[in-house]
Amino acid sequence: MTDIQTYSGPQRILSGMQPTGGLHLGNYLGALVNWVKLQESGAECFYCVVDMHAITMPHAAAELPDKVRGAAAAYIASGVDPEKSAVFAQSAVPAHAELAWIFQCVARLGWLERMTQFKDKAGKDKERASVGLFTYPVLQAADILVYKATHVPVGEDQKQHLELSRDIAARFMRDYDCEGFFPLPDPYIQGAGTRIMSLKDGSKKMSKSDPSDLSRINLSDDADTIARKIKKAKTDPEPLPGSLEDMGDRPEALNLVGIYAALEGSTAEKVISEFGGQGFGAFKPKLAELAVERLSPVANEYARLIADPAEMDRILTKGAERARAIADPVIKEVKARVGFWG
Ligand code: TYM
Repeated sequence: MTDIQTYSGPQRILSGMQPTGGLHLGNYLGALVNWVKLQESGAECFYCVVDMHAITMPHAAAELPDKVRGAAAAYIASGVDPEKSAVFAQSAVPAHAELAWIFQCVARLGWLERMTQFKDKAGKDKERASVGLFTYPVLQAADILVYKATHVPVGEDQKQHLELSRDIAARFMRDYDCEGFFPLPDPYIQGAGTRIMSLKDGSKKMSKSDPSDLSRINLSDDADTIARKIKKAKTDPEPLPGSLEDMGDRPEALNLVGIYAALEGSTAEKVISEFGGQGFGAFKPKLAELAVERLSPVANEYARLIADPAEMDRILTKGAERARAIADPVIKEVKARVGFWG
């Protein structure tokens, strides 16, 4: 599957999410559904909660452990099976941080200066952003490569970070003369939900940082809340067109069609062929019905899991042990190649 011929290790999947705020429909359709799909592929899967990335922005320390439990619970409620896949907190595997430092000395300043997520998150006053926010994508590369992951299921917004991970891997292998040591990880960006937009503004990504809760569907929302948010979603007065080409510049309409397609596991073309000619008064209730059908079991399982923090801790501890068993020998070899003691 991977395009690096010289890498001959096992196929491995790694991905992660920030535990800042609850997870939402974008996280679910853009990434989690593919995590579950890849879990069934026979490859080893590592799904971490990236709490080290979470502290690149101001955060409440006392709340972080519960947020990690909550994110891990959302992974499992979405279908990640902790018996099959390692579910763990990034900070529980020190090799991530060790490799991140080495990669900071491999990556070039110019590469990081091109990262659009930093520009978005730092806002106008980038002088006041943490250095960690700037080097964030280097830690992400370490997350991936410390497992020698070959495939990384993510939403479209992570594409640039994945390209950087490949550049860092290639540069490390060149600098330390070890071709084939790392795979060049492939982004796995598949399905109709790789870029879910805000329900209130079709030009903005659905995001946990949006101040309006009506802009997103949270994985913890109950059936009434989901239906209400879809009913209130921004649309236009036109009916849906007969084909996707005739959609024109209607980002909110396109987004709802995309959400329907992703929830159904089909394509926007197919949804349009089914609902073309109908107005939102007819389409929205159908979408709400489908969303509730798909997401209610996730919300129920999530509620059950977060009510049992001891069970979540057991899962996270076991996941971290499995992760360390793979990451520790990799970082040991990297350190030897770099010329470090111990
Ligand atoms: P994060 O926490 O912002 O998002 C987690 C995952 O959800 C996807 N996603 C979306 N997909 C479709 N539509 C949306 N509106 C949407 N919003 C979020 C993201 O693409 C992502 O897959 N940098 C990463 C976390 C990370 C990571 C990693 C990912 C750290 N280390 C290693 C992969 C591998 C992030 O901030 O994701």
